[in-house]
Amino acid sequence: MSTETALTAADLHLLAEAGGRAPSLHNSQPWRFRPTPDMLGLEVHADHSRAVPAADPDGRALHISIGAAVFNLRVAAAHLGREATVRLLPAGEGAQPRAVLDLSAPARSPRPFGTDLYPAIVKRHSSRHAFTNRDVPEAVVADLITAARDEGVTLTALEEHGVRQVLALTSEAEARIAADVTREAETRRWLRLEPSCDGIPLAALGSHDRDARVPMRSFTGHPPHHVTPADRFEALPQLATLTTRFDGQTDWLRTGQAMERVWLLATVHGLRASVLHQAVEIPDTRWRLRDPAEGPAHVQLVLRLGYGTPGAASPRRPVEDVLDQG
Ligand SMILES: Cc1cc2nc3c(=O)[nH]c(=O)nc-3n(C[C@H](O)[C@H](O)[C@H](O)COP(=O)(O)O)c2cc1C
Repeated sequence: MSTETALTAADLHLLAEAGGRAPSLHNSQPWRFRPTPDMLGLEVHADHSRAVPAADPDGRALHISIGAAVFNLRVAAAHLGREATVRLLPAGEGAQPRAVLDLSAPARSPRPFGTDLYPAIVKRHSSRHAFTNRDVPEAVVADLITAARDEGVTLTALEEHGVRQVLALTSEAEARIAADVTREAETRRWLRLEPSCDGIPLAALGSHDRDARVPMRSFTGHPPHHVTPADRFEALPQLATLTTRFDGQTDWLRTGQAMERVWLLATVHGLRASVLHQAVEIPDTRWRLRDPAEGPAHVQLVLRLGYGTPGAASPRRPVEDVLDQG
């Protein structure tokens, strides 16, 4: 059934605000939102002026970021009492828009994701703090696995051997990235976009704990005072990979939706999370992240989950900059 109730300016603002709070590589926020001509839906476009070509030459991270924004839009649509029917890449790979949400019908369920995830959109932040040694309960991990599976993506919680392997690959990738002058210049450019990071040496933003257990890095532009070299990270971090069967733009958009759904649900469960992306950015370390026992699968993202201090909110572009008003 169609409500045929056009989206109001307030609805559009709420949607764009929620979409814009999604996580993105380097906080690049590479999205634009535009109401459909009938004002019953929303198009999501890639903003190529905010691409990060040295770190993300094929746009994989850009699509993951856009997918995360699409998931927030779905949650916000439910908050507005609307059903969100999503078409990914309706005009094909490489064409705009990257997704269209039909919001014309009333919500079939007030909680399409089982839990109300809307309040978690503003509470979710990347937390690069040390986490405690408290294990994530198996029941919570099972919930996160189901949430990712509902988006067509596999979440695998890594056992000790897998965690050590991923940390080693992350450190290796980080060293190679740090030696790449083009990449370093690109990262510096993104950091300069955020006034809070003026004058901070890039090296200071890649924070390690004192035992070098977790190779953290930060692209937010926040001064690194919230992760000091003396911080002692958890003995064995809880890492999870998100993998897909194929590796095209649709898979990346699905990964972004799964990542955000998992992250919001984790936030509801009181968990903190951050992304360890270094090893995914280099083809051969990405290849070695795969667990051959899992069969053919493409690792799209590594998430670190745990309990600890929440991360700080990072800046967002104003809604007027990301929303085209019909
Ligand atoms: C594809 C992708 C890759 C990311 N890579 C990293 C990373 O390697 N290290 C990190 O600390 N954060 C990483 N992030 C998190 C972003 O830095 C973060 O989402 C952004 O700065 C906004 O901050 P927020 O998550 O607190 O809202 C990544 C996010 C995405 C979507």
